[in-house]
Amino acid sequence: MRYLTFALGKGRLAKKTMELFAQIGITCEEMQDPATRKLIFVNEELKLKFFLAKAPDVPTYVEYGAADIGVVGKDTILEEGRRMYEVLDLGYGKCRMCVCGPESARELLNHQELIRVATKYPHIAKDYFYNRKHQTVEIIKLNGSIELAPIVGLSEVIVDIVETGSTLRENGLGVLEEVCPLSARMVVNQVSMKMENERIGGIINRLKGVL
Ligand code: PRP
Repeated sequence: MRYLTFALGKGRLAKKTMELFAQIGITCEEMQDPATRKLIFVNEELKLKFFLAKAPDVPTYVEYGAADIGVVGKDTILEEGRRMYEVLDLGYGKCRMCVCGPESARELLNHQELIRVATKYPHIAKDYFYNRKHQTVEIIKLNGSIELAPIVGLSEVIVDIVETGSTLRENGLGVLEEVCPLSARMVVNQVSMKMENERIGGIINRLKGVL
């Protein structure tokens, strides 16, 4: 039997994912060690491998088949636009992709003004403004702390993830429009889905049973 390889997005999602997998008997003892510098973890008995990657790289590993299965946020899936199957909504990591800004920017959105939009998600922002709203905007790519942009005058609005809304509130900003709901998803390489249909299908069905 060959190894099935899982790519997990680093951070909060990975911990939740391993907790969920434990419920269907998929475990990896090696991974529990907080001091380890290892990059890849193996469960010899179940013939499984696991590795952690930066979230935006997970779809890349899955598309190329370096990982058979990935777990990553819907935001990353939409942004990366990779060819792979999205097979399961895991239900955690729930949040929303939103257009946010000061209340004063609402008018600019409604009147289709040529505004600047700062975001870590240029593809999602472009798709929303160009294809759904038919509004021409200037998109400015940032890499974090996006809420700064409208505060310091880099942009009128942002497209960003809102979970509790407290980052926005504490900075005098709010949600102006909702782009889409988000959560953690399981994705599968298209060839793996065919070649390992029984094993991967079994995992999907057992997960469905506990979700
Ligand atoms: C995310 C997101 C918001 C914040 C939303 O940022 O970009 O800034 O969380 O959460 P809240 O609605 O509960 O306040 P993250 O902490 O991932 O870091 P980043 O800003 O560097 O992207």
